[in-house]
Amino acid sequence: MNILILGSGGREHALAWKMAASPLADKLYCAPGNAGIAREAECVALDLTDHAAVIAFCQSHAIGLVVVGPELPLCAGIVDDLEAAGIKAFGPSKWAARLEGSKGFTKDLCKANKIPTAAYERFKGAAAAKDYVRIKGAPIVIKADGLAAGKGVVVAETIAQAEAAIDMMFSGGLGQPAWEIVIEECLVGEEASFFALCDGETAIQLASAQDHKRVGDGDKGPNTGGMGAYSPAPVMTPEMNKRVMDEIIQPTVRAMKAMGAPYKGVLFAGLMITKDGPQLIEYNVRFGDPETQVLMLRLMSDLVPALIAARDGQLKNFDLRWYDDAALTVVMAAKGYPGNYAKDTLIEGLDRAAQIEGVEIFHAGTKMDGARVLANGGRVLNICARGKTVREAQQRAYAAVDRIQWPDGFCRRDIGWRAVLREAGR
Ligand code: AMP
Ligand code: GLY
Repeated sequence: MNILILGSGGREHALAWKMAASPLADKLYCAPGNAGIAREAECVALDLTDHAAVIAFCQSHAIGLVVVGPELPLCAGIVDDLEAAGIKAFGPSKWAARLEGSKGFTKDLCKANKIPTAAYERFKGAAAAKDYVRIKGAPIVIKADGLAAGKGVVVAETIAQAEAAIDMMFSGGLGQPAWEIVIEECLVGEEASFFALCDGETAIQLASAQDHKRVGDGDKGPNTGGMGAYSPAPVMTPEMNKRVMDEIIQPTVRAMKAMGAPYKGVLFAGLMITKDGPQLIEYNVRFGDPETQVLMLRLMSDLVPALIAARDGQLKNFDLRWYDDAALTVVMAAKGYPGNYAKDTLIEGLDRAAQIEGVEIFHAGTKMDGARVLANGGRVLNICARGKTVREAQQRAYAAVDRIQWPDGFCRRDIGWRAVLREAGR
């Protein structure tokens, strides 16, 4: 069958790399793609906000399955529109994508179904929100409802910071004024990313991962889209995985079905593992980036039948096999990211880096200029490696990083530190 992947990041490169190995994939397309994806798939310049254009492309290229990477087209209803045109699409409907699109919706769903999550209130105005913050005290977490490209959350250490965040969100600091915010209790623990494949009724667990959101070593500095990740997450013991499935994922899938919005696609739970057990921080309705890069390195089974089974409501009795190996990815970003950075800078040494055993390089923001690879975004490359341990994967990934010549790029040097310390018994 012909498959179209929507998106252009490292996540989509990893998905394309995995799907290109499937005997079920005849021809693979990616829109819009990037320089690395172009080696696995034919890149096509489609505007993902133009659903009619995407549908027309699918019809003229006999696309049998569309796999949607990012949340924006999902929340805009691209799966509904494709399915209405008779094209199979992997991902949630617009209605079901509210699990990421509206924090208030998800919090209310958790409350109604006793899913563990931080205590919260929803507010439509600044005055009542500030009163609540003064009563609750700091630290406290302020979240804008709606998609905010990862910038809609402020973990306020003081009441003054919380008040400033409330004013910022209601006055348009995130682009447009927030119509509603959620204020919630600050959870303490270790974060983990948990992925489940859902078909509307059945959910099966994928592997767990941990990402590093802060830009600097030691998890310091501003938040980013993610500077690296590894899988599995040591904090996710078999017992903890079962609790997450029983207490968070399954009740969510049941509740979505009961309200007439069955959830199909990948359900990505951002978790805080607290001393009392797992708590849901947020849902995403898509694969994680950069978590998918490490998940795909560890997935032994063919991904394509799994995505089709999720779309077709056939996940019952479906099983996926994983390599026991660990996988780790180091993100190389343009200097200045997550602030301003230069584009079109030259990257060399990628082929030599990819020769290291266990190493796979996924592109995020790159483009070709003849035979040269140029940076074309903030997060630019994912240097990934498999290893028997996280430590081995980490050593291989950094050995590859050291073969790359990109004076205008940087990366963190400590990706995986928590897992490495645990492996060393510290
Ligand atoms: P989100 O965009 O919801 O993933 O939030 C971004 C980050 O904010 C999370 O990865 C956490 O590090 C932090 N965060 C969000 N909610 C909470 C919370 N209730 N308690 C502690 N940290 C939080
Ligand atoms: N790595 C976090 C995300 O994909 O949102």
